[in-house]
Amino acid sequence: MAELVLPSLKYKKSFLEAVMEPGAQELFDRFKKILDEENFDKFIEEIKDYSKGVNLKAGFVPESTFWLVEADEYIGRLSIRHELNENLLKTGGHIGYDIRPSKRGMGYGKEILHLGLEKAKELGLKKILVTCSVWNPASKKIIEANGGIFENEVVGGSGKSNVLRYWIDIK
Ligand SMILES: CC(C)(COP(=O)(O)OP(=O)(O)OC[C@H]1O[C@@H](n2cnc3c(N)ncnc32)[C@H](O)[C@@H]1OP(=O)(O)O)[C@@H](O)C(=O)NCCC(=O)NCCS
Repeated sequence: MAELVLPSLKYKKSFLEAVMEPGAQELFDRFKKILDEENFDKFIEEIKDYSKGVNLKAGFVPESTFWLVEADEYIGRLSIRHELNENLLKTGGHIGYDIRPSKRGMGYGKEILHLGLEKAKELGLKKILVTCSVWNPASKKIIEANGGIFENEVVGGSGKSNVLRYWIDIK
């Protein structure tokens, strides 16, 4: 059974394999800086810091990250922003997620958001904004399957596609 866990060195090999998978260009670009030994440890520490609101980059809000794992294998990542700033309210939303390419189309996307909403509740959030690009039908289905109520479509930032905004009540 898949579960959300806190990122740890235990999943290092599997996480790095996921980043290197064909089709993981987006993941690779985001995580290439941690592809060597020393940086991975630092990466885990940074994730912990961000969850406590420590050493945040300018304009960033505190964010908790969880990894979806099954039988010690890394499947995907979900981050929960503890509050919304102007950009997050407009297009980013509270929750971001991705599933490693080799595990897509198997229901893990729906599961990671379902489990993520429980974590968001534990963090004290009551109403969650989740967004996706208009060209992302999989993410749209994931949000709707998890109770997302469509609010509107807005123009994405700096040349990006339009964004669909949904709210999920988790009280
Ligand atoms: C979007 C993403 C998380 C989907 O994960 P997933 O594990 O493939 O999702 P699921 O298997 O739960 O599928 C959810 C639904 O989308 C459908 N789907 C999956 N991939 C699809 C695709 N490429 N095109 C159209 N529909 C797709 C599934 O058939 C399923 O539909 P159903 O409800 O009719 O059964 C994954 O593709 C990903 O990580 N993409 C890159 C990052 C990203 O876009 N994150 C979301 C940001 S908002």
